[in-house]
Amino acid sequence: MDVFEAIESRRSIRKYKKDQPVEEEKLNKVLEACRASPSSHNGQPWEFIVIKNKNTLKEISKETAYGQFLANVPMGVAIVLDPNVSQSFHMVDGGILTEIFALAAHALGLGTCWVGTMNREKVKQMLNIPEGKVLLTVLPLGYPDGKSPQFPENL
Ligand SMILES: Cc1cc2nc3c(=O)[nH]c(=O)nc-3n(C[C@H](O)[C@H](O)[C@H](O)COP(=O)(O)O)c2cc1C
Repeated sequence: MDVFEAIESRRSIRKYKKDQPVEEEKLNKVLEACRASPSSHNGQPWEFIVIKNKNTLKEISKETAYGQFLANVPMGVAIVLDPNVSQSFHMVDGGILTEIFALAAHALGLGTCWVGTMNREKVKQMLNIPEGKVLLTVLPLGYPDGKSPQFPENL
């Protein structure tokens, strides 16, 4: 898939084949693509937490405003940023990174969706994320299951 096709055909995926796991090779390819993302001062202020525990995903889903589908995904990846290493551009770095995650996933036949609004303090506690770090999003990762509800149908 060329880059223009990937950009144009990517959609937010909110319905996943719950029991079809993501191959480790594909997960690593997505994360490696993310590691190639540009960042302010080349600070690379990101860390990834791969979440495979179904119960954890379910508990996180309950703390989101519009991310209930996290309860029904084979895995999630939390994007964690360090505001101290990126000269206050960490949110920009994280935004670019998240789109690269989405495009890389899509190019491999996988889907994801930015989950924005959540009780960050609670989710940070669940994932043992230190106080000084920023939890940007928890991204579902899995194989799309048919037609996904599009915003705002999913509300
Ligand atoms: C910062 C940000 C936060 C978002 N938060 C959510 C969310 O919490 N739940 C959700 O279902 N979609 C969320 N989205 C996805 C948007 O709804 C989606 O990108 C938009 O409707 C366009 O649809 P598309 O991605 O399929 O092209 C978010 C997107 C962005 C960029």
